Amino acid sequence: MQSPCCCLLSLLFYLLLLSGTWANLDGTFTIWMLQTTTFQNTSFVEMEGLGLLEDIKLGYLDTHTWSIHFYQPWVRSVLPQADWDTFEKLLKVYFQEFSHLINKGGMERDIPYPFVAQCMAGCVLYPNKTSQAFAYMGYNGQDFLSFNTKNATWTFSKDTKFSRYVQSLFQNYTSSDMLEIFINDSCVNEVKMLLHYGRAALERQELPVATVFTHIPSLDQLLLVCHVTGFYPRPISVAWLRDGQEVPPGPALNTSPILPNADLTYQLRSVLAVAPRDGHSYVCRVRHQSLGTRSLLIPWESSSKQMEESESRNSTVSKED
Ligand SMILES: *[C@@H]1O[C@H](CO)[C@@H](O)[C@H](O)[C@H]1NC(C)=O
Ligand SMILES: *[C@@H]1O[C@H](CO)[C@@H](O)[C@H](O)[C@H]1NC(C)=O
Ligand SMILES: *[C@@H]1O[C@H](CO)[C@@H](O)[C@H](O)[C@H]1NC(C)=O
Ligand SMILES: *[C@@H]1O[C@H](CO)[C@@H](O)[C@H](O)[C@H]1NC(C)=O
Ligand SMILES: *[C@@H]1O[C@H](CO)[C@@H](O)[C@H](O)[C@H]1NC(C)=O
Ligand SMILES: *[C@@H]1O[C@H](CO)[C@@H](O)[C@H](O)[C@H]1NC(C)=O
Repeated sequence: MQSPCCCLLSLLFYLLLLSGTWANLDGTFTIWMLQTTTFQNTSFVEMEGLGLLEDIKLGYLDTHTWSIHFYQPWVRSVLPQADWDTFEKLLKVYFQEFSHLINKGGMERDIPYPFVAQCMAGCVLYPNKTSQAFAYMGYNGQDFLSFNTKNATWTFSKDTKFSRYVQSLFQNYTSSDMLEIFINDSCVNEVKMLLHYGRAALERQELPVATVFTHIPSLDQLLLVCHVTGFYPRPISVAWLRDGQEVPPGPALNTSPILPNADLTYQLRSVLAVAPRDGHSYVCRVRHQSLGTRSLLIPWESSSKQMEESESRNSTVSKED
C-alpha cells in the first residue's frame, strides 16, 4: 500500500531505479514534487500535483484521468512509456490513499472543513555531487510537518491531535532503508537524467531588457527607476552607478524581489532616491549570464527642463572595462 507525503519520496525513488546518461552541467539543481489537496468537505477532495526541475515545470497530474501531462516534451524521454504508466498508477494509489487517510484522521478529530494540505518533496544536487532530500507538509498554508533525513524522522511544527496523527501516519510509512538509498544515490541519478534531457531548457538564456525612468513623489525628491525584465535564468545583478561609482546599499536604494513573468522569464526594479539637480550622473548597470562579460548600461540623463517629465530610455549594450 502506498503512503502519504513521504511516498512522494518513494515515487521519486521509483523513477530513479532507471539509469540514464549523465550530463555534465555544473551547479546546484533542485527537483521538486508539489502536491496540493483541498478537502472541501468530508466527501469532496480536490488534488493537484506538479513536478519541477529548478523553476521549470516538468508536468502535472490530471486527477480526472490520472495521467501525467508534460509541459516539456523532453521529459517524456526520461523514462520508457511503460515506466510512466506504472508511475501514473502509483500516483493514483498514492493520492487516493492520502486523501482517504487524512480525511479519516480529520473527521475523527473534528478538524474544521474546508482545509488544505500541501506536500513538497524532492532533492537538491550540489556541484560536489552530494545530494540532500527534503519533504515537508503544510496545513492551511502553515508549516505542519517536516522530514529530517538524518534520522528519518517526521517532526511536527505545532503539537495538536491532528499533527500527532499525521506524524504517526507518515512515520509508519517511512522506511529508513529506502530513504537512505534514495538520499545516497537515487536523487543524484534522477537529477542527472533530467539534466541530460533537459539541458537545453536549463541552459536557455534570455536577454534582459532594461528601461530607466523617473518618478517624482515630491518637489525635493526624485526617484530613478531601473526596470529590468525578460531575462532567464533568474540570477541577475542590477546596480546604480553615480559618476561611475557603484551606489552602495542604503536607505536611498530599494531593489524589488525578482518576480516571475508569465513566459518563464523574470523581472525586477531598482529604485534610487536622489535630490533633484544634484549635479551627478546616474547609470543603471545590469549584469546577467546571457550578456557574457558585457553589461547593460542605461544612463539617466537629467536636465532641468526634463525634470518635470518622466523620461524613458531603452537598453543599450555597452562594453565595460
Ligand atoms: C461537498 O462539496 C461539494 C462541492 O462543493 C458539493 O457539491 C457537495 O454537495 C458537498 N457535500 C457535502 C456532503 O457537503
Ligand atoms: C557539498 O556541498 C554542499 C553545499 O555546498 C555542502 O553542504 C556539503 O557539505 C558538501 N559535501 C561534501 C562532502 O563536500
Ligand atoms: C531527529 O532529528 C531532529 C533534528 O535534528 C530532532 O529534532 C528530532 O528529535 C530527532 N528525532 C529522533 C526520533 O531522534
Ligand atoms: C502507526 O503504527 C503504530 C504501531 O503499529 C500504531 O499504533 C499507530 O496507530 C499507527 N499510526 C497511524 C496513524 O496509523
Ligand atoms: C549512504 O551513505 C552513508 C554515508 O556515506 C553510508 O554510511 C551508508 O551506508 C549509505 N547507505 C546506503 C544504503 O548506501
Ligand atoms: C523602446 O523600444 C520599444 C520597442 O522596441 C519602442 O516601441 C519604443 O519606441 C522605444 N522607446 C524609445 C524611447 O526609444
